[in-house]
Amino acid sequence: MEQIEQLVRKNIRELKPYTSARAQFLDNALTLLDANENPWGSIGMVENQVLNRYPDPYQRAVKEKLAETKHFPVSGIFLGNGSDEIIDLLIRIFCEPGQDKIITTDPTYGMYKVSAAINDISVEEVLLDQGFKLSGDKFLVGSAPSTKLAFICSPNNPTGNLMDKAEVLKIIQRFPGIVVIDEAYIEFADDPGFVEYCSQYPNLVVMQTFSKAWGMAGIRLGIAYTSKVIVQYMNKVKPPYNVNQLTQKQALTSMEDAHEISMLVAKVKNGRDWLKKELSVLNKVEEVYPSDANFLLVKVSDAVSIFNSLVEQQIIVRDRSRVSLCEGCLRITVGTEEENQRLIDALKLIET
Ligand SMILES: Cc1ncc(COP(=O)(O)O)c(C=O)c1O
Repeated sequence: MEQIEQLVRKNIRELKPYTSARAQFLDNALTLLDANENPWGSIGMVENQVLNRYPDPYQRAVKEKLAETKHFPVSGIFLGNGSDEIIDLLIRIFCEPGQDKIITTDPTYGMYKVSAAINDISVEEVLLDQGFKLSGDKFLVGSAPSTKLAFICSPNNPTGNLMDKAEVLKIIQRFPGIVVIDEAYIEFADDPGFVEYCSQYPNLVVMQTFSKAWGMAGIRLGIAYTSKVIVQYMNKVKPPYNVNQLTQKQALTSMEDAHEISMLVAKVKNGRDWLKKELSVLNKVEEVYPSDANFLLVKVSDAVSIFNSLVEQQIIVRDRSRVSLCEGCLRITVGTEEENQRLIDALKLIET
């Protein structure tokens, strides 16, 4: 724990956080005259939802439900306005602008680099090996003493593959800073991921999200599973009411129906298999890479012209052809059966 305290920026260690009015008293039956809210109600309510009170700044009900389903201590859970907010908060807590670094793989999810740049933090990028594989040793050699945070995305975006467990563990055990495993796509992989390792390694942060398998990208809710000490710093630095009332309520309702996730994931996996089979036989497709996520990385003969032809047919995929190791590649999200069929039909039209 002391080691983690030492990694935190001095100004953050010494920060006196804002104390939000709703941190202590949440019961609407009380006479709440402490937060300058509007006592009369809300204007233009959707489905009669009254939203005049600030939400629980610590989202206690949502965290308790998550803790119960994940068998994880509630004190080790942090919720953010999407995982993207969590990435930014971690950088701001641990990295001194203009001085410290983060390390990540190349290629990977672009927001680690963008958040680092916004905070004037430089980025060490370690090129993945053949087959988009991660080498723990290579990664550890790349990290300087000023490298405070390591970001590993597994399954990785945009390559789609799960990172090798032994290599990730090597990094968790030996990296002298905080290791963040981004598991935005973990539900689509046949692997439990790293949440269970959090109790053993206080320097580990495992991020998950409601945006993918849960089908809740619109509510913006990201989760960090980590140690109590890191959660305390995240609470100190976050905006007081970072997760809004509607999001908290929707997350609770969604978790009541958590059993539906396996059905949604099965649909995506079926679609992934179908799409892979159909894509593989097309002339313009050179390779469809294995995927543990809800998208496929596909090497094609001319990525830019195929991308543009698809746009002309109202189909939007992601051009990743200028990304390291992904030259000539498009990243294609697995859609519904109808959307997948439309994509294949459009590609066949381009081939003729
Ligand atoms: C690897 C990865 N992490 C995080 C995110 C963002 O997640 P959120 O919607 O929770 O901000 C994405 C979004 O595409 C992603 O691909």
